[in-house]
Amino acid sequence: MIIAANLKTNLTRVETQKYIKELEKCVQTSQTQNEVLVFPAMSSLLEHKGKVILGAQNAYATKNGAFTGEIGLEHLEEFGIKTILIGHSERRHILQETQEALVKKFNFYKALGFTIVYCVGEPLEKREAGKEEMMEYISAQYEGIDTAYENLIIAYEPVWAIGTGLTPSLEDIEQIHTALKEKSQAPLLYGGSVKVANAKEVLALHNVDGVLVGSAALDVNDFCEILKN
Ligand code: 13P
Repeated sequence: MIIAANLKTNLTRVETQKYIKELEKCVQTSQTQNEVLVFPAMSSLLEHKGKVILGAQNAYATKNGAFTGEIGLEHLEEFGIKTILIGHSERRHILQETQEALVKKFNFYKALGFTIVYCVGEPLEKREAGKEEMMEYISAQYEGIDTAYENLIIAYEPVWAIGTGLTPSLEDIEQIHTALKEKSQAPLLYGGSVKVANAKEVLALHNVDGVLVGSAALDVNDFCEILKN
């Protein structure tokens, strides 16, 4: 299983250092076989050697250059980062990142062999519009993405379930994951209000290969409980 934490715009560098140290302890003592990924904020990226793998929440498709406010390959390399997360709904919706821009990032970091956690998911109005329209919406998020890329991990995160405490039913998650597995055999994570209380049952579902956790991962003890499942 892949257990991933998206720390979003939380935890300073000092807090992240402490977090990773405690998480590493948890991984070692629990002897979990799970793969553990953590995506800190950009200014909290660290060089880390251990079982926990650190990744970046975003990166521009460039080595360096004149792209104010962005970071590129050189900045990731400085910390030995070889994993990125792209396509998160907060970037698609709040920061207006287009599918075209995501494809550029995907191809750039794919050519470098990065592990790419690629997020997809529908907003509430698409879910309410019925299964067909919802699947069409999610399918469009696969456009231009090499779904057979060997270092690809996909995260299905219904937008309306993110940070709301709401989740689809277990049956729903399983059904959507099964449909998405037909598009790509890549490991498929579920994200959206995963907590200590529901992680075990979500992880037990067919075609769920892990979870991507936001709020509940901010407390290292909670995230530790989740990855012990
Ligand atoms: P929450 O776990 O806070 O719902 O966030 C999920 C998420 O967006 C992970 O990328």
